[in-house]
Amino acid sequence: MTETPSPEPGIVDKTFQWLDERLGLTNVWDTVFARMVPETNWFYTLGSASTILAILQLITGMLLTIYYVPSPDHAYDSIQYIMNEVAFGWLIRGIHHWGATLMVLVVFLHMLRTFFVGAYKYPREITWLTGVALLAIVMVLGFSGYLLPWNQRAYWATSVGTSIIGAVPVVGPLLMEIARGGPAIGAVTLSRFYGLHVWWMPLALLSLIGIHLYLVIRIGITSPPERSE
Ligand code: HEM
Repeated sequence: MTETPSPEPGIVDKTFQWLDERLGLTNVWDTVFARMVPETNWFYTLGSASTILAILQLITGMLLTIYYVPSPDHAYDSIQYIMNEVAFGWLIRGIHHWGATLMVLVVFLHMLRTFFVGAYKYPREITWLTGVALLAIVMVLGFSGYLLPWNQRAYWATSVGTSIIGAVPVVGPLLMEIARGGPAIGAVTLSRFYGLHVWWMPLALLSLIGIHLYLVIRIGITSPPERSE
């Protein structure tokens, strides 16, 4: 009996092999996605849910910047335009709006999960600390984004929020003035919050998620605690 010769690799296989040899794609896949993990439960999916929400917020936020105008004269109208005229604008803004609320909730629940299994202890202290910074960034993103629609609710919520900063002993009034960009909320506050919301915070978020996930992969995750008999 003659053996059938194995078929020549196709163009897709050949291209993949060419790239794999140069970029080490199989190695990356094995390290990131095919790594060994302990048996876990649904609470261990909250970190991945936070990552997916962060990506969703970045994509929908980038789409919103196409029509949003960060000036007191046009901010409100540009949001009305997105909601009523732009194709699927209402959907993109809706996802961004509810995604923000969901993200705060999911990140907080993820923090509770890691706290209750003691994942903040050795050797995961830096993972925890980067997590604390991530929570702060998510809150600043939420607060700065709230002003952008430039409606009554946004204006007064920011007025109250920045007044709270002003209540900090000694440095409060200075911090409040820095946050508002002057004694009152106005054009400078809007452009300052817009800069924070679309540049500084997303950049910090992405960099810290990168470090956070590097540590999760490097150290490995905890296994759920078991009841000892
Ligand atoms: C944008 C926010 C965040 C993202 C995208 C994120 C992402 C992740 C992912 C994907 C994991 C691995 C899977 C899992 O354990 O769920 C993880 C693990 C971890 N995260 Fe976060 N995280 C965020 C915020 C936080 C916060 C606020 C804390 C705590 C203050 C935190 C502390 C930890 C710790 C300690 C681990 C290791 C868990 C273990 O070994 O069991 N993370 N994170």
